[in-house]
Amino acid sequence: MNRALTIAIDGPAASGKSTLGAALAERLGYTYFDSGVVYRALTWLALERGVDVRDEMELVRLAESARIEVVRPTAGDGRQYTVLVDGQDATWSLRTPAVDHNVSVVAAHPGVRRAMTEWLRQIAGGGAMVMVGRDIGTVVLPGADLKVYLTATGEERARRRYREQLERSLQAEYDQILAEMRRRDELDSGRAIAPLRPAPDAIILDSDHLTVDEEIDQVLQHLALSEVATR
Ligand code: DC
Repeated sequence: MNRALTIAIDGPAASGKSTLGAALAERLGYTYFDSGVVYRALTWLALERGVDVRDEMELVRLAESARIEVVRPTAGDGRQYTVLVDGQDATWSLRTPAVDHNVSVVAAHPGVRRAMTEWLRQIAGGGAMVMVGRDIGTVVLPGADLKVYLTATGEERARRRYREQLERSLQAEYDQILAEMRRRDELDSGRAIAPLRPAPDAIILDSDHLTVDEEIDQVLQHLALSEVATR
């Protein structure tokens, strides 16, 4: 594969986007970027500063003034990257139930999405990028070379989150995780701007029935085909 391609991976929470995205990026020597981080970082900052998550104007102001950086992991504690918000390591703070609960409300504001979309496009500008999120193939990078949409049942996704929480020695309750996930799915899929949905030209992978290696194989096959088609 000669060209520096851009690959978009979208899907609901815990559908396996970050596992597939990171593994694929490593395989191709590309950069992996998890776009959920920018919405989570803004949400965390708003909660820290006491900004109301329903206040779009204040959130946009905060987004414009905040310095959000995603850098190589600075600790060997299972993180895929380190997130610095105004210089402070916020990597794990972005994964707390409070952020989970509020992030979809923050991400539904059109002004917030405008600011973040522009920023995400700049990050992906150079190509050789695997970007994961909810609207990468539909809105952020509609010209991506390959679009993947990952699906999985709510129950399977809740089980994954439950296991992740236990592995990080956090208290976890399956029913609560499932209910919170369903609520977030509804908010992310039902919002007026850039709702979660597959791009018409996305390949759909069902992560309930595929291993990560099988998913990677399918993506690489599609990439090889599109390379031949554009040659
Ligand atoms: O992928 P995640 O669970 O870390 O994403 C957190 C939230 O951010 C998700 O509930 C919706 C929002 N999000 C979004 O609206 N658009 C994206 N491209 C990525 C995430």
